[in-house]
Amino acid sequence: MDNIILIGFMGAGKTTIGKLLAENTGRTHVDFDEMLEAEIGCKIADYFAEFGEAAFRQQESELLKNFKQDNHVISTGGGIVLQPENRRVLQSLEPVIYLKADPKVFIPRLQADQENVRPLVLAKTPAEIEAVYRPRIPLYEASATFTIDTANLTPTEVVEKILQQLDEK
Ligand code: S3P
Repeated sequence: MDNIILIGFMGAGKTTIGKLLAENTGRTHVDFDEMLEAEIGCKIADYFAEFGEAAFRQQESELLKNFKQDNHVISTGGGIVLQPENRRVLQSLEPVIYLKADPKVFIPRLQADQENVRPLVLAKTPAEIEAVYRPRIPLYEASATFTIDTANLTPTEVVEKILQQLDEK
């Protein structure tokens, strides 16, 4: 079975939805951030602090390019669409699903998440987080096969919507 790839901003629910979608479609879930942390041997926030964002992006691109297994649901990191090279890879794959979320939902979620500290959100105001998010919207849209608007939906409802869309294709 083809992989299903989830893209979208931090806090949009890519990991939660990815796990549920994997269960529902008989695929294995994989989270690129977790794979990267296992490879680099430390937390992403620590890697950013020591080596910088560009080095992290390089690692992320390598992971995407070299992932050759089938039958997975892949939850990507929110910045994967920033590299033109990654967008080209994503555009060659299908289905790539953009989980679109409302800043009113993801900003408080990100600020409350002590477990997973995102370096690009740390110490930022809501307006500054929105300023990271806005320019990415066209990049998510350009990389996706289709978009699911998650506003007011539970994770189960999001998964149902995805399954409907996949059947239609
Ligand atoms: C990032 C998103 C994070 C992680 C890193 C950078 C981003 O992943 O890859 O902190 O630039 O949007 P999540 O979207 O899973 O939080």
